[in-house]
Amino acid sequence: MGGRTGDVPAEDPFAEPSRLGAEAARAWVAALNRRAGAPDQFRIRAELLRHLHVCAGQAVLEVGSGTGVLLGDLALAVGPDGPAVGIEPQEAFAAEARRRLAAAGAGGRARVVVGPIEDAPLRGGTFDAAVAQTVLIHLAEGRREAALDRMRRAVRAGGWVASADQDADTWVVDHPDRDLARRIVRFTCERRHADGWTGRSLPRWFRAVGLREVRAAAIAHVDTESGSHLHGLAERVARAAAAAGAVTQEEADGWIEALGQRAEAGEFVASINFYVCSACRQEARRRVRARSGRDA
Ligand SMILES: C[S@@+](CC[C@H](N)C(=O)[O-])C[C@H]1O[C@@H](n2cnc3c(N)ncnc32)[C@H](O)[C@@H]1O
Repeated sequence: MGGRTGDVPAEDPFAEPSRLGAEAARAWVAALNRRAGAPDQFRIRAELLRHLHVCAGQAVLEVGSGTGVLLGDLALAVGPDGPAVGIEPQEAFAAEARRRLAAAGAGGRARVVVGPIEDAPLRGGTFDAAVAQTVLIHLAEGRREAALDRMRRAVRAGGWVASADQDADTWVVDHPDRDLARRIVRFTCERRHADGWTGRSLPRWFRAVGLREVRAAAIAHVDTESGSHLHGLAERVARAAAAAGAVTQEEADGWIEALGQRAEAGEFVASINFYVCSACRQEARRRVRARSGRDA
């Protein structure tokens, strides 16, 4: 996500987002909004809506709704009769989402509940669809399966669950120091996220919690501008790699500077793949097989 986000710690800031300080939270609001405004992110949100089969009058749940961009799209899709509910543990993100929803005139039918999915007061089967966007990649094993299972249980039989997550090993950046670029990508994949291979793992994880009719699609987010989301992400991850000791501070500073020179010359290019995965909650009871051998 583009822009400075204060001192960059080695660990994933979204693993425990309620602990972010006020300054870091403000910086992340700007960074999340910058990412959401990139053209490829519109395609990802459109793909998520398509996978969720959302239509007017339905009830939808978004886990980790952040600054509320997707939640606004969901509120528009379900219309005045369909509640869109966001679950978000970070207070400043939730406040930004409420502001956005009110400005879009969706404040009445969309609401944000502050807290982690683990504590959310959800009744089983009350939603038609549940979605998370770049949330599962931040949850450690165990928490992640529990979150996905809560999403599954929150939707009615025949309802849809979807997630969009990046796969950190698909991050490419055109940098003159290829070896150092590879080390920084490796750091972000192996140490910065709960699981850097989340994108490619989604179908397997969906099946493991009992979801069926699993579908997946990939969309590349490509940035070619100085100060874009992926430029900011490259700088941030290089700093985090230095904080973790994966590269030296000198290496990180030099890498960021060389990337900045490319960007200033109008030669910034980076991309990362996002995977949209969806699946259906099974009917409550399996059909019983008739004596004839055909489904009853
Ligand atoms: C990278 S941000 C993505 C925000 C938003 N979905 C978007 O795509 O812009 C990750 C989000 O997951 C949220 N999150 C992290 N742990 C969570 C949990 N246990 N339950 C619900 N949300 C969580 C964070 O607070 C943050 O808003």
